[in-house]
Amino acid sequence: MLFTMFHNVSAYKQSKEAIAMNRQFDFLMPSVNFFGPGVIEKIGDRAKMLGMHKVLVVTQDNLAAIDNGPVKQTLASLEKAGVDYAVFTGVEPNPKIRNIKAGKKMYEDEGCDSIITVGGGSAHDCGKGIGIILTNGDDITKLAGIETLKNPLPPLMAVNTTAGTGSELTRHAVITNEKDHLKFVVVSWRNIPLVSFNDPMLMLDVPQSVTAATGCDAFVQAIEPYVSVDHNPITDSQCKEAIQLIQTALPEAVANGHNIEARTKMVEAEMLAGMAFNNANLGYVHAMAHQLGGQYDAPHGVCCALLLTTR
Ligand SMILES: NC(=O)c1ccc[n+]([C@@H]2O[C@H](COP(=O)([O-])OP(=O)(O)OC[C@H]3O[C@@H](n4cnc5c(N)ncnc54)[C@H](O)[C@@H]3O)[C@@H](O)[C@H]2O)c1
Ligand SMILES: [Fe+2]
Repeated sequence: MLFTMFHNVSAYKQSKEAIAMNRQFDFLMPSVNFFGPGVIEKIGDRAKMLGMHKVLVVTQDNLAAIDNGPVKQTLASLEKAGVDYAVFTGVEPNPKIRNIKAGKKMYEDEGCDSIITVGGGSAHDCGKGIGIILTNGDDITKLAGIETLKNPLPPLMAVNTTAGTGSELTRHAVITNEKDHLKFVVVSWRNIPLVSFNDPMLMLDVPQSVTAATGCDAFVQAIEPYVSVDHNPITDSQCKEAIQLIQTALPEAVANGHNIEARTKMVEAEMLAGMAFNNANLGYVHAMAHQLGGQYDAPHGVCCALLLTTR
């Protein structure tokens, strides 16, 4: 039994190497990622540098309410740089089509010219969805699939507050159709935020359950590209490093949310995994997790963790 298993793994690795030798691949990353404690202070200047005059800040009401939290710090930096903004707090977890339509309306009513998403994957994907329908047509369901976007989104920056999805640097926007409870994905290089911010200080107060769930998402997002036929040497090294980091940092971050070292390592890991799957893609766990999450409006990381271990 053990011999058969090793034989299969070794045959699998040989075929994986053979495929890798002959592959051409492109490699997508955000043009700029600010990383480290305190980097959020730079967002106002960067918005100005990008010519943003009035930003739609896309977030959730509970995040906007936190004293000196991610949203308040983002707004303070924008104010210091003299950049105007309107705040849209209508993002639901597993963002719905109704959220992106409401965000688009506010963008137009307020005369915005750019978007900053503040939160986890739900805020980033909602902001991407708003940008998508602003420039590519109102019916986002028609844009499900790979490289369906003809036009660029408005300038978009992402302030990340969970160490999980990697959405602050990926080409994916995962949206739930509230009519049939199905999740669909718009995958395009045009969705990659221009600039992303990963400041671990913004993650110190992420609740324990969210830390665990989002960390499991990052773990699965490091495993699936490693065993994907679309892997390449760069994504392999990212996956291996991410898996190693998560093994020690995730239990520490869950046990003590204020452990800045563990939070920092989890951000490194989720970025590595995000870059890996952005290029080598995901697998069956995510295919099933999206639909479980869509049907039951369940946290994405919990769905991934459940399905990774299901036989
Ligand atoms: N686009 C991609 O590449 C990609 C990849 C994987 C998953 N996703 C999608 O992302 C979504 C899930 O995102 P998520 O797992 O980051 O969860 P989330 O964005 O839904 O956030 C989970 C909860 O944590 C709270 N929270 C977030 N940051 C916080 C902070 N700093 N302090 C306190 N509370 C905080 C949020 O308000 C929310 O209630 C799903 O819709 C999933 O399908 C997208
Ligand atoms: Fe995921």
